[in-house]
Amino acid sequence: MIGALALNSFDKPPRRQIEREFGVPIPGEIVAPAYWTSTALKHLPQHGPIDWGALFGRQAPIVLELGCGNARYLIGSAVWRPDHDHLGIDILPVVIRYATRRGNQRGLKNIRFAVCGGQELLANHVRPAAIDEIHCYHPQPYFDEAQAHKRLITPTFLALVHRALKPGGLFVVQTDNPGYWRYIEQVVGYFFEFTPHAGRWPDAPKGRTRREILALKRGLTVYRGSGRARLDLSEAAAVQLAESLSPPVFDPDRRLQQLDQLERGGG
Ligand SMILES: C[S@@+](CC[C@H](N)C(=O)[O-])C[C@H]1O[C@@H](n2cnc3c(N)ncnc32)[C@H](O)[C@@H]1O
Repeated sequence: MIGALALNSFDKPPRRQIEREFGVPIPGEIVAPAYWTSTALKHLPQHGPIDWGALFGRQAPIVLELGCGNARYLIGSAVWRPDHDHLGIDILPVVIRYATRRGNQRGLKNIRFAVCGGQELLANHVRPAAIDEIHCYHPQPYFDEAQAHKRLITPTFLALVHRALKPGGLFVVQTDNPGYWRYIEQVVGYFFEFTPHAGRWPDAPKGRTRREILALKRGLTVYRGSGRARLDLSEAAAVQLAESLSPPVFDPDRRLQQLDQLERGGG
């Protein structure tokens, strides 16, 4: 009897908890602290590419999210696709802290987060043809003209995405900024067999990300699309192509800036 009691207290199923953001559940459940994991990738290799097999202790398809913010999408992907490994990066340490806490508290073993720029990650830490999917949700449009050079989606960046993806690998991008979208539509087809996605993502009708949820609540149009890396484009040809295409110069429409301030509210 004593033995049975002791066994019961140790084998009790972990306490579970659903977390919400703007009333929309965040995928996965917070498990009891004994089951938490450690999803922070505090140090990227000083030189050279990430060894994905060593990082995750297995060989599995790799999914990247660049500019992941609080990583609502990537957390969901890690929960729903346990057979895929995931890395989310962002330049803002505070959002990576939110993302990491979420990953840890869900006990996820197939996700890591690091503070890093999207272009830097691809140029310095990802081998060619290593990645299965790259996602970019709501890249910062940078409303101030003096900061426009920081825009992530440039021809050079797209050439790096193409280089990082396995042949036929998937690139997903979306924004609620019409000017940015017009630019993306102009350039993305050079590197990917790209198709705009009509309507909301079926897996997340209220929004895949924090920013998408906010944009939809405000009645903004969200522009989504995805495409497979072109098979007929070599790495050298992609670099050459990137040099011939124009940079992301567009009118970001300052009226949309207000949402950015709200969005910065955190995790
Ligand atoms: C508008 S927020 C969108 C966040 C999230 N993807 C979402 O949809 O909720 C843009 C994010 O991109 C990050 N960011 C801006 N420039 C970046 C860069 N060069 N590399 C990586 N992340 C960047 C920002 O810190 C911010 O978290």
